[in-house]
Amino acid sequence: MNMRTELPKPAVDFERLRLGPCRVLGHTMVLRPPAFADFDTWRRLRLRDREYTEPYWITSPLSWSARHTRKRWVRECLMRRNRARARTDLAMVIEVDGQFAGQISLSALDFTAKTAELGIWVDIALARSGAATLAGAMLVDYGFDVLGLERVVAPICTENVPALAAAERGGFVHEAVMAEYFDAGGKFKEHALYGLLACEAPPEGLVGYWSAYLEESHVAHHSNSVAGGSMSQRVHLAVDALRAIVPMATYWASEARERYRRLRSCATKAVVLHARSGSVILRKLEVPGPCGHEGFALEADGAVVGECGLQQINEFQCSAELFIDHIAPDADPDCVEAAARRLVEYGFGVRGMNRVWMAIAADDALRTKVAERIGMSCEGTMRGYLPGPPRADRDLWAITAAAAER
Ligand SMILES: CC(C)(COP(=O)(O)OP(=O)(O)OC[C@H]1O[C@@H](n2cnc3c(N)ncnc32)[C@H](O)[C@@H]1OP(=O)(O)O)[C@@H](O)C(=O)NCCC(=O)NCCS
Repeated sequence: MNMRTELPKPAVDFERLRLGPCRVLGHTMVLRPPAFADFDTWRRLRLRDREYTEPYWITSPLSWSARHTRKRWVRECLMRRNRARARTDLAMVIEVDGQFAGQISLSALDFTAKTAELGIWVDIALARSGAATLAGAMLVDYGFDVLGLERVVAPICTENVPALAAAERGGFVHEAVMAEYFDAGGKFKEHALYGLLACEAPPEGLVGYWSAYLEESHVAHHSNSVAGGSMSQRVHLAVDALRAIVPMATYWASEARERYRRLRSCATKAVVLHARSGSVILRKLEVPGPCGHEGFALEADGAVVGECGLQQINEFQCSAELFIDHIAPDADPDCVEAAARRLVEYGFGVRGMNRVWMAIAADDALRTKVAERIGMSCEGTMRGYLPGPPRADRDLWAITAAAAER
């Protein structure tokens, strides 16, 4: 069974975590949990900065304004609190001189693979002041030094010039170009994969390095701080909390519905996939795996010759990883290819994915040939992709639903 042993999650309280203050160029940056009271500023900045953000944000049938209502902000705060508790995501508000100035997150936290994904947006009024660089440095340092992460990635839309430049300037290394990686701004868009390994961080830490760099190279910009908060502020906070009651109730109800839907969809149903070559059958393994994992026994001419399936099935990104494991040394490569082809069809046709990918070692001739034969393209190399020591690189191969149609 392709099940890895899960390592324990670090005993840190994400919910109440505050990072900083970091003082650079006479200004103070703090990373803190999002609060209901941030709604007004969040909405104002998001609506004002729409042209810089919407093209790279997940596609939605809602208007940009309708995506930034109080109900939506409360929902976002509760969802992030939930994920903080589960320690799957660490979502923070970027505060500059006491003002809400954007959001930054480490999502898809995986304490077994020691990896996470960085996401960020900043108040465009602060653009090119080093805000993103410093916020990124604070959170990634925390990830490397406290959470024990060893690899942080940033998938960036190849049309997003500021973010590409900020990642490169921030020390992230370009690793791959991923076709139709994410449905953003109305369509599936190509993304560049950037990665940073803990072993590549400067000895003084990213914050130490970038603070010095910014002090040496940057001009100052505006500041005022709000310590403690006045009486009217406390009333404001109380009103915000009252206003949040209905959205909170709606959120919990939808969460319960979503949990039930996921449980129902994860229920292991007897699935048997017949590959075109007729002699190859994929029989769903009834052993319950993590949500987003579907394992199959690979049978050729009635004998089990290996295991394969889809894992990391990500409905948010509409993508899934195809894995082929424990292949018998004498297994016929044509059977493995037939099984992989059948899984791609299953991924697109049944699971509704837009992209199926494989992580393959450069010297793995069997899986490389299978990937080529089923129409996948090699998009690049993911450095230190698998935990070590030493961490191991893997080539990224992928096919999209559109490419499979061709
Ligand atoms: C991308 C983003 C986070 C950059 O934030 P920022 O605070 O301006 O970044 P920094 O000031 O730290 O910039 C670091 C470097 O990135 C590069 N850069 C940033 N903005 C740039 C731009 N508009 N054009 C070209 N290069 C740019 C520069 O090299 C800059 O260094 P320099 O100013 O010393 O030349 C910000 O533009 C943003 O929030 N965009 C909208 C949301 C988004 O795209 N998020 C990323 C999704 S993957």
